[in-house]
Amino acid sequence: MQEDVSKLRNEFISRALSTENKEELEALRIEFLGKNGRFTALLKQLKDIDPSERKHVGELLNETKKVLEDTLSGQQRENEQRGERGFDETIPGIKPPIGHIHLISKAIDEISAVFENIGFVRRRYPEVEWDWFAFESLNFTKLHPARDNWETFFVDTPADPKLGPMLLTPHTSSGQAREMLEKVTLPIRMINISKCYRRQSDASHLTMLHQFEGLVIDTNINFVHLKGTIDYFMNSFFGPNRKSRLRPYNFPFTEPSFELDISCDICGGKGCKLCKQGWLELGGAGMVHPNVLKAGNIDAKKYRGFAFGWGVERAYMMKSGLRVPDIRMLNSTDLRFLTQF
Ligand code: PHE
Repeated sequence: MQEDVSKLRNEFISRALSTENKEELEALRIEFLGKNGRFTALLKQLKDIDPSERKHVGELLNETKKVLEDTLSGQQRENEQRGERGFDETIPGIKPPIGHIHLISKAIDEISAVFENIGFVRRRYPEVEWDWFAFESLNFTKLHPARDNWETFFVDTPADPKLGPMLLTPHTSSGQAREMLEKVTLPIRMINISKCYRRQSDASHLTMLHQFEGLVIDTNINFVHLKGTIDYFMNSFFGPNRKSRLRPYNFPFTEPSFELDISCDICGGKGCKLCKQGWLELGGAGMVHPNVLKAGNIDAKKYRGFAFGWGVERAYMMKSGLRVPDIRMLNSTDLRFLTQF
């Protein structure tokens, strides 16, 4: 008997809690507590119980009846309230996932702002380009290895009689001649940020990368202006604690030419998988070669310039505190990675 009572009580409670309106609740009341109800049937059995147990069982039945009635009135209130409100506005809503600007776009914005502060103007030139802009105008010899199929992606389309084959530009320097030819007034202070493509992929190289190319052309421009611009950028973008160095190098379109390195933040300059010897190469720089000025229709006797071209992904990766061991992770679609930025 006691077992039957507790089973019936549990069933009643769980069914009452899942009702949604008065009618359902009333049906349940009749099923259990009505004249021929299942609980009423138990009450009726009380008189047949052995007198020694009757008192005890009677108390249990009374208590249970009260529980059933309380459940009914509680659920009745709950159903009424739900019906009035329609929905429960006090329950916190489900937030839709919100994305954010991609870290490369953020880096591009930041780099643009640093240069715009000192008077550079943001430009963007074609990423699918003619050989003349990517190589010829930049003083590359016909057999220069960078022109090789191995380094550069060529587009399978007929070559232009004057501008040569079509290609995916391997560097933003292809914007130099375009800027000079398009620019009506001098001086030039360009910051060209675009995508570049190269046949390479490892921990520090991407097939599709972004470069930011600075080009300044004016009378009386000299190496000190280049060095000052580099120092200003390094300090603004990486903070005051990083070291940079210029290594003599060779580019056909600058003379003298340099490569710019920044001390590695991952190993603190000791040497690691990414930087090898404590320095990370950011890109090239130098004084614009007179032949490039000529290709851009600028009087090389009157004007001089400096240029630099550095990798956005690389620069961002080497920012203080950002310990990304493989540059290819920046193109990952894994939200576990992306939501950290
Ligand atoms: N275009 C060169 C590169 O891709 C970098 C560079 C730009 C060097 C401008 C000198 C001046 O590596």
